[in-house]
Amino acid sequence: MLGAMSTPSHETAPLPRSIAAAFDLSGRVAIVTGAAGGIGLASAATLARAGAHVVLTDVQATQVQNQAAALTDEGLSCEGVALDVSRQADVNALVDDVVARHGRLDVMMNNAGVIDDTSPLTVTEADLDRVHAVNFKGVVFGAQAAARVMIAAGGGSIINVTSGAVDIALAQYTGYSTAKAAAHQFSRGLAIEIAKKSVRVNTLAPGWTDTPMNERHVRNEDGSIDPTRKADYVQQRANWAPLQMTGDPLDQAYAVLYLASDASRYVTGQVIRVNGGVTMPW
Ligand SMILES: NC(=O)c1ccc[n+]([C@@H]2O[C@H](COP(=O)([O-])OP(=O)(O)OC[C@H]3O[C@@H](n4cnc5c(N)ncnc54)[C@H](O)[C@@H]3O)[C@@H](O)[C@H]2O)c1
Repeated sequence: MLGAMSTPSHETAPLPRSIAAAFDLSGRVAIVTGAAGGIGLASAATLARAGAHVVLTDVQATQVQNQAAALTDEGLSCEGVALDVSRQADVNALVDDVVARHGRLDVMMNNAGVIDDTSPLTVTEADLDRVHAVNFKGVVFGAQAAARVMIAAGGGSIINVTSGAVDIALAQYTGYSTAKAAAHQFSRGLAIEIAKKSVRVNTLAPGWTDTPMNERHVRNEDGSIDPTRKADYVQQRANWAPLQMTGDPLDQAYAVLYLASDASRYVTGQVIRVNGGVTMPW
């Protein structure tokens, strides 16, 4: 917890003058989707360490409940709930349940994602449906459900996770990059639509970050990770970036904390690129 004082989430509230107060989420409630591992888990833990009560959700029910229990054991205020973000009725029910039990929703991080390895020439309808259901529709469903509550309350922060894939041309990941581009554009439209209600909408566009999503390239047939292939793969990805490094989930989580907190009260409709500079024209 960063400070003892609980602050309202309304963007019209006075700008906190101390660093601790600007990033303090005490008394706030956050939902993070896709929080069983990777960027979602690191972000959920960071929001909880800043004082929020965090509802970790994921389609992997047992894993997300175990992760939430581990954070609770650290003394943080967390719960783990099963949720498939591609099911709109379930997303609405989860948000309603959280608000009924906790009385508010201040932060909604729509982070759940899946990836494909398809070419624009051969991507199938099934590939598109699978990836767009989570990466695009899941963001729409989560953002709409949160916006409904936040508009009524007069404030809140919605953080949609896209990707560096929206900034560069890619002849692979076709379902993924098109779904992320759709989520990017949706987020900007929603930001305009609800700005006057003091609800902020921003996107986090991560660069290559070391999470389970990227392990598919370095797994042996038995599912274990090949450490040599992994080291080579990570080095190759690091070489892409001007900073010559790859990301840790916590690199993304600190940007999420900024977007969730009053420190970013003047920020909406923006893309925060945490990517070592890889999408700069250079
Ligand atoms: N890791 C990277 O390099 C990278 C780069 C750019 C963007 N991203 C984005 O960051 C976000 C987090 O990815 P990550 O790297 O932590 O990957 P990850 O695979 O570790 O985490 C994604 C989580 O989403 C969950 N999920 C999948 N389908 C779901 C569904 N239908 N409903 C609810 N949860 C579901 C998974 O179970 C998993 O826990 C994703 O949106 C991803 O596209 C990641």
